Amino acid sequence: MASLTIRKLDETVKTYLRLRSAGNGRSLEEEVRVILGDLIQGRPESSAARAPSVAAPDAQSRAPRRAHDEARVTLIIGGGVAAYKALDLIRRLKERSIHVRCVLTRAAQQFVTPLSASALSNERAYTDLFDPSSEFDAGHIRLGRDCDLIVVAPATADLMAKMAQGHADDLASAILLAANRPILLAPAMNPLMWNNAATRRNTAQLARDGVAMIGPNAGEMAEAHEAGVGRMAEPLEIAAAVEKLLRPPPPRPLAGKHVLITAGPTHEPIDPVRYIANRSSGKQGFAIATAAQAAGADVTLISGPVDLDDPAGVRVRHVESAREMLAQVEASLPVDIAIFAAAVADWRVAQAGEQKLKKTSAGMPPLQLVENPDILATISKLREKRPPLVIGFAAETEHLIANAKAKLARKGCDWIVANDVSPATGVMGGDRNTVHLLIRDGGAISVDSWPVMTKEQVATELVGRIAETLSVKTPEKTS
Ligand SMILES: Cc1cc2nc3c(=O)[nH]c(=O)nc-3n(C[C@H](O)[C@H](O)[C@H](O)COP(=O)(O)O)c2cc1C
Repeated sequence: MASLTIRKLDETVKTYLRLRSAGNGRSLEEEVRVILGDLIQGRPESSAARAPSVAAPDAQSRAPRRAHDEARVTLIIGGGVAAYKALDLIRRLKERSIHVRCVLTRAAQQFVTPLSASALSNERAYTDLFDPSSEFDAGHIRLGRDCDLIVVAPATADLMAKMAQGHADDLASAILLAANRPILLAPAMNPLMWNNAATRRNTAQLARDGVAMIGPNAGEMAEAHEAGVGRMAEPLEIAAAVEKLLRPPPPRPLAGKHVLITAGPTHEPIDPVRYIANRSSGKQGFAIATAAQAAGADVTLISGPVDLDDPAGVRVRHVESAREMLAQVEASLPVDIAIFAAAVADWRVAQAGEQKLKKTSAGMPPLQLVENPDILATISKLREKRPPLVIGFAAETEHLIANAKAKLARKGCDWIVANDVSPATGVMGGDRNTVHLLIRDGGAISVDSWPVMTKEQVATELVGRIAETLSVKTPEKTS
């Protein structure tokens, strides 16, 4: 589509495009896509789109992907029996929302047709280095750059030899030589070819050149009575390797750390059917548990009664009262980080009725309150098993910072997350929070006031601060 359109463009427009795409380190086709994307979304010209000027040729390889683009793979199909599996690979990649553009070597076309590759990829399949009907920009450059990853499957012994030697006498090898994108090979060949000294040398050279490889696997060969290492990795395995290269897993700064979090209100029984409670929804504590789990931590969440689903991948202990919560907290120690976000009731009824209290002519039953255990202070002041980082929450309705500072000193914790829970703020039960992070550092207390955020954003920010602090305290060991 783009090639035809571009070829028919006015010379001045073509020159502009050519210079602009070179300046931005993009192919012509990608440049047109960026311009159209900006136009449709009503953005001013992309900030990445510099005025036509020539940039370093490898600038594109470092350019971050634009979020709205789908991942793009150039799939080079080599001339081996396993070429038929490449057709399945196209499907597997497309299932993962990866755009695929196929290139078939001359030998590959003996095994599968460009038509099949084209039909499955919904894209034109490319076969020739000197293709008069192809783009007016050099196809071998474009196909090696207008993508995020080049996959060669099957990678024949011949293609690998050409790559290792730097040949460029057909479209596939020229793309591979001109590429500035990562390359993943899925070798497939007879075990004797794979074990041949020349292939061994070429494989080692390609590894040194930074080329990634998946397989080959051991198993039966297409040739009768032959088995050994040489089978191409299965399409699903290759697709998983592609995903890993395209979408590397997010960093896990809290991997290996055990994080304990309390959340929600507590219910303090008056009798079997009545209780004292508060308006805490548990949303902030649950969001922190989710963020800590996403950061790789082993998370224990001790939750009072809430109307929320347990976060995936988190160990959840459900409790009712403050005393049950403390017991579960103590049973979970030792931990590396303890975050006390629960709104624990300060008082409970001294003698909760065993039976439902009845209305009587004697008037209202006297409810004597006694103090609940202070979970934050108890854990902060432990001699043994005190977590290295203890974080409390201060929910205040007045004198927020002053009260939070006093709480930090009184409880003996390390950090306090202070939030104003006056009814007007909508914090209790709501989805947003405005917090101030108080950090005790020796005798001083620093106050960091964050803007209004969703509770998930507060959680991510808090987990980020924790990870930052731990990385400063425990620098990576160097050997
Ligand atoms: C039936 C048949 C099957 C083949 N299978 C393979 C194979 O699995 N792996 C391989 O490296 N070469 C295989 N070859 C040899 C390649 O097709 C040959 O080396 C060709 O030049 C590779 O071209 P290409 O690397 O440009 O695709 C096979 C050849 C034939 C005739």
